Amino acid sequence: MKKIPILIFSLFLLYSVTAQKTARTLTSPGKAATVTVGLNPAGEPFYRITYRGATVVDWSRLGFLTREADLSKNFTLIRADVSAHDSTWKPVWGEESSIRDRYNQLTYVLGHDKLGSALAIEFRAYDEGIGFRYKFLAKDNEGRKITVTDELTEFQMTGDHLAWWIPGDYDSNEHVYTAGPLSAVNTDIYKPETAISTKHIVDRYNVQTPLTMRMQNGTHLSIAEAALVDFGALHLRLDPKTLKFKAFLISTPDSLVKSVNTLPFNTPWRAVLLSRDAAGLLTNRLILNLNEPSKISDASWIKPMKYCGIWWEMHVGKATWDYAGSQTGSTAQGLQPSGKHGATTANTKKYIDFAAKNGLGGVLVEGWNVGWEDWFGKMKEEVFDFTKPYPDYDLDEVARYAREKGVQIIMHHETSAAVPSYERQMDAAYAYMNKYGIHAVKTGYVGKILPRGEWHDGQRMVNHYVRVAERTAQNHIMLDAHEPVRPSGLHRTYPNWMACEAARGQEFNAWSKGNPPSHECTLPFTRILGGPMDYTPGIFQIEVNQFDPNKKERVHTTVAKQLALYVTLYSPIQMAADLPENYEKRPDVFQFIRDVPVDWDETRILNAAVGDYLTVARREKGKPNWFIGSITDETPRDFTLKFDFLEAGKTYEATVYEDGPGAHYETNPYPVNIRKVTVKRGDTLKLKLAASGGAAVSVIRK
Ligand code: NOJ
Ligand code: CA
Repeated sequence: MKKIPILIFSLFLLYSVTAQKTARTLTSPGKAATVTVGLNPAGEPFYRITYRGATVVDWSRLGFLTREADLSKNFTLIRADVSAHDSTWKPVWGEESSIRDRYNQLTYVLGHDKLGSALAIEFRAYDEGIGFRYKFLAKDNEGRKITVTDELTEFQMTGDHLAWWIPGDYDSNEHVYTAGPLSAVNTDIYKPETAISTKHIVDRYNVQTPLTMRMQNGTHLSIAEAALVDFGALHLRLDPKTLKFKAFLISTPDSLVKSVNTLPFNTPWRAVLLSRDAAGLLTNRLILNLNEPSKISDASWIKPMKYCGIWWEMHVGKATWDYAGSQTGSTAQGLQPSGKHGATTANTKKYIDFAAKNGLGGVLVEGWNVGWEDWFGKMKEEVFDFTKPYPDYDLDEVARYAREKGVQIIMHHETSAAVPSYERQMDAAYAYMNKYGIHAVKTGYVGKILPRGEWHDGQRMVNHYVRVAERTAQNHIMLDAHEPVRPSGLHRTYPNWMACEAARGQEFNAWSKGNPPSHECTLPFTRILGGPMDYTPGIFQIEVNQFDPNKKERVHTTVAKQLALYVTLYSPIQMAADLPENYEKRPDVFQFIRDVPVDWDETRILNAAVGDYLTVARREKGKPNWFIGSITDETPRDFTLKFDFLEAGKTYEATVYEDGPGAHYETNPYPVNIRKVTVKRGDTLKLKLAASGGAAVSVIRK
């Protein structure tokens, strides 16, 4: 019913844009995707995208409103340059050892009286999607300020696609996904719930990017952003009547201003990822390819790793971050220890021993520094000191012991979102880490951002996260950011930026209604398209009432599914998140976590349906061994996998960790059946996945 007005409007635009002789079409190297751009008689730029013969983004506007010039119309075409590119690059770590970057480029250069210089729109056509960005060029006006009040980019959808969305939120991505037709998008269904992250949902029709959709013909598309630097993050505002999205940028503290930039500058890339099916989205490297190459010339110090840590024990109530045991509102000086503090020297040594024994590279220690008594929801400066440990945490001894055992300490910097305070201390904090030989940090931004009026995803914070990536890189420190803006492929440019949380992680299962069974089946197709997530898998004690029998919260998967997540949720750092004592009870099951690598030469998607199920096989970096993870939502499923990716003529020993008899995520999450089979290329393997279950398989060449 919505199709007819869209069609008439689109024919009208087609006529008016092409009639101006300004229309140019760019086709991808393998001809799968095209983008056409042109100006209508009013000098307004429009574009359209096709994929395998069908329109996927119908005529949609381009342009900006700025305080200095109305950049919505009155453009003239100066020139359109076309070029081709084909290269291959090697990521420092990743899902494969080399990535092909092959595209055709059109630079559409537009003149505008009021701007005083040209605005170029750079389009790249890949067989796996279209990227474009705006380049504000300078002529005699270098250094002139441009105050962006609105981005006019639109994405006209061609049908009422099935979409997987979370609300557009100025502060957080920690939401459960909703699956449903575009016409039903309405963020009013998101009610406040238990969460430690600050949330600020802006509008009923604003959704977050990457926004993944499935068209009636099976084509999957995701509207995303690449290389988000010096700009507010991109949301999409839907017009539910026309099924058109309009770009919506997170604002600065002045709600009428979206960003302030200085000529010349580029906006981040707007990207439309395209694939014939769900599986193809997971091997789509458009976002990475649109980012700049690595700025780190010697990356030998950057090492993917598994880690454990003093973390889950706070989330489930065994220990506290603070030394004095409760948030008393004053600092640690003079406080009496409560006896529940997690980050003690002795406890850290226990974790170091556990890591050393099980081949885990790192130990995360949260709650080691003074300030936690004064932490939660305070919205004030100078809560934490990043160079001052609590009296029961002897960092000299911890660092010495970790070195002796060959384990890295991952330092924690909870900034409590007091960003100026963190920026003041940053250099001293990184120097302090270096003094102790600590080369990994987990940052956190719980709370409302200071200075007041700033948002987690606004321009100023976007620049802050990048600055932290740069400074940590200068100090040879690997970075894992919690509560930052969602990633946009910047880990290509800053490969020390190993992972981000920026989505609803495992922690929600400890203190809220948790993550539904479809959650882990949705993340790889949505949030993780932008970059690795520190989800923290591996919980064996599914009911988290170990320390409080009244606690009703639980993990909404089976144990076998927790194992599979190490393969299906890609990250170069993966936490073994449960308590060592829970792993020690099940050494046979824990063996998979010990064995699974975090860096890969090859990745194959064996089956996939967004939000429903996913099976991934990956080959270990530099080795012939494969690891498979298979997960499902609440629906039990049977799969037959074909080993057509193994090397011909070789024999492999497969160890299968699967849901045991009667397994069910709600009633019987614990049983894991372990069996060994000898396999070779072409053999098949049958897997039975329980409700919210999974299977993990190691396939080791003999
Ligand atoms: C939220 C983070 O996501 C979590 O991992 C951390 O433990 C707490 N903040 C405390 O900083
Ligand atoms: Ca969080």
